Amino acid sequence: MRATLPPEQFVACATPEAWCVTAARDLETLLIDHAYCEKKAASTAVALMFRYPDHPALLDKLSRLAREELRHFEQVQKILRARGMVYRRLSASRYAEGLRRVMRSSEPARLVDTLVVGAFIEARSCERFLRLAPHLPPDLGAFYLGLCAAERRHYADYLALAHSVAGAAEVEERVALVRDVERELIETPDRELRFHSGVPAPALN
Ligand SMILES: [Fe+2]
Ligand SMILES: [Fe+2]
Repeated sequence: MRATLPPEQFVACATPEAWCVTAARDLETLLIDHAYCEKKAASTAVALMFRYPDHPALLDKLSRLAREELRHFEQVQKILRARGMVYRRLSASRYAEGLRRVMRSSEPARLVDTLVVGAFIEARSCERFLRLAPHLPPDLGAFYLGLCAAERRHYADYLALAHSVAGAAEVEERVALVRDVERELIETPDRELRFHSGVPAPALN
């Protein structure tokens, strides 16, 4: 039986302390981009349900996941409003695009890679919530810790789905590849603060 690593061990590195400090100083950007990430996570899950209608386990897991992500979106919207902040469009983070670049484009490899990348995004979100929470006002920190259970389950679901469509050797090879790319996106300087951004570049400090 394959054991699933905790999210904070599945990713190759911890969220840098400098990111937590900068994020806690710019809660408006953090919350707006977080709301966007939740909405995007729901949208990606629904898109996969349309692209792979003949995969019952995928339909079941991602339908629930999409509902939970939309619920998270609503919760973040409520927090934004309570703080007098307004949801607006922000430029996209380099993170998702950076992960997408390593994905193969022909099926069935495309599905395997999409699920592996999904597992990393969910695992990083959970790891980041845990690291960030102590830097935040208590109510917001508690909210982020409360989200962890769902994101941990989403990570495990994406990884289990990857194992359901590909052999263990292929999944492990793709996990190793994405893990390296993901670490670089988290540990190298990034000019914009976003929920999944890298180490704040000097201009952000
Ligand atoms: Fe979420
Ligand atoms: Fe999630």
